[in-house]
Amino acid sequence: MSDVLILGGTGWLSGRIARRWVDAGAAVTCLARGTRPAPEGAELVPGDREAAEAYDALAQRDWDHVVDISSQASHVARAVDALGARTARWTYVSSMSVYADDETVGADESAPRHPPARPGDAYEYGAQKAAAEDAVSALGARAFIVRPGLIVGDGDPSDRFGYWAAAFTRAGAEPVLLPPLEGRAAQVIDVDDLAEFIVTATRSGVVNAIGDRHSLSDMLEAVRSAAGHTGDTVVADEDWLVAREVGHWAGPRSLPLWLPPEMTGFMTRSNAAFRASGGSLRALADTIGRVLVDERARGVDRPRRAGLTRAEERALLADR
Ligand SMILES: NC(=O)c1ccc[n+]([C@@H]2O[C@H](COP(=O)([O-])OP(=O)(O)OC[C@H]3O[C@@H](n4cnc5c(N)ncnc54)[C@H](OP(=O)(O)O)[C@@H]3O)[C@@H](O)[C@H]2O)c1
Repeated sequence: MSDVLILGGTGWLSGRIARRWVDAGAAVTCLARGTRPAPEGAELVPGDREAAEAYDALAQRDWDHVVDISSQASHVARAVDALGARTARWTYVSSMSVYADDETVGADESAPRHPPARPGDAYEYGAQKAAAEDAVSALGARAFIVRPGLIVGDGDPSDRFGYWAAAFTRAGAEPVLLPPLEGRAAQVIDVDDLAEFIVTATRSGVVNAIGDRHSLSDMLEAVRSAAGHTGDTVVADEDWLVAREVGHWAGPRSLPLWLPPEMTGFMTRSNAAFRASGGSLRALADTIGRVLVDERARGVDRPRRAGLTRAEERALLADR
């Protein structure tokens, strides 16, 4: 039985990773502050990674595999210092946000990164991830760096992809407001495909973890069709939306998955290395189906972290 330590393990992705490993018969330990439980069958070791002693008990033993998902470079570096010598394999969940160039279409893992954050720098997600990658890469052939793009699936706490399932469902036979579609791409990875890859991959180095490229138009149409929306779709212009303070990508009063037009490369990255490393991708329809079930269960009119409220959407549609 392998001994696996997940730094995290109680969150959305890290919880799926922990659960997948429990199912595979591993002895799974999760280090987290304990705001949520660890998956059944995994042991939760409570600890705050801000504290130097967080790793004391964990450093007394050997680990077959450590997985870290933190986006705080100092937490990652301290964990490598404390546990690296007794760990056979270390997977770090980074992000495609490490890339400095969001315009080049189809870029692979060799694309330039943001400069890694240095101690004392103002927090910037991509720079923190880059510095964390470097701390883990110091483990050489034992290090595996996974760079996911947009992670989607049931239970997504960011509410981005699920917005579209909710928006088409709640509208029914009424219109839905869409962002500009012409020339826009969309690329996602299912949370369970990602967890499977992290648990089963055997290679080291750096791999983008992302699905195949779709047009944004095709992706939204697939969600619309699965949701059974029968109303009109109203495609808004870039400038019209920006003038009405509708945000790109995420957050309140936004249209999720809509990117500024110059970010032509952001959702078009290469997944050739992922596929060559055994990564598998379920059909988009499968992911959409599970997201729809989840959105209906959680309530399509609930307050969300991303998207328009139905009242905001109606007001914008009335302004057209
Ligand atoms: N969502 C996306 O589309 C996307 C895209 C690319 C990459 N990613 C990456 O995917 C990963 C997502 O992981 P996730 O879903 O598991 O994240 P999450 O839901 O935010 O969970 C964070 C985990 O870390 C623990 N934690 C947080 N602060 C801690 C502290 N100070 N000390 C100890 N434990 C702490 C949390 O437990 P407690 O709160 O109880 O401590 C929890 O177990 C991240 O690496 C993210 O950067 C996400």
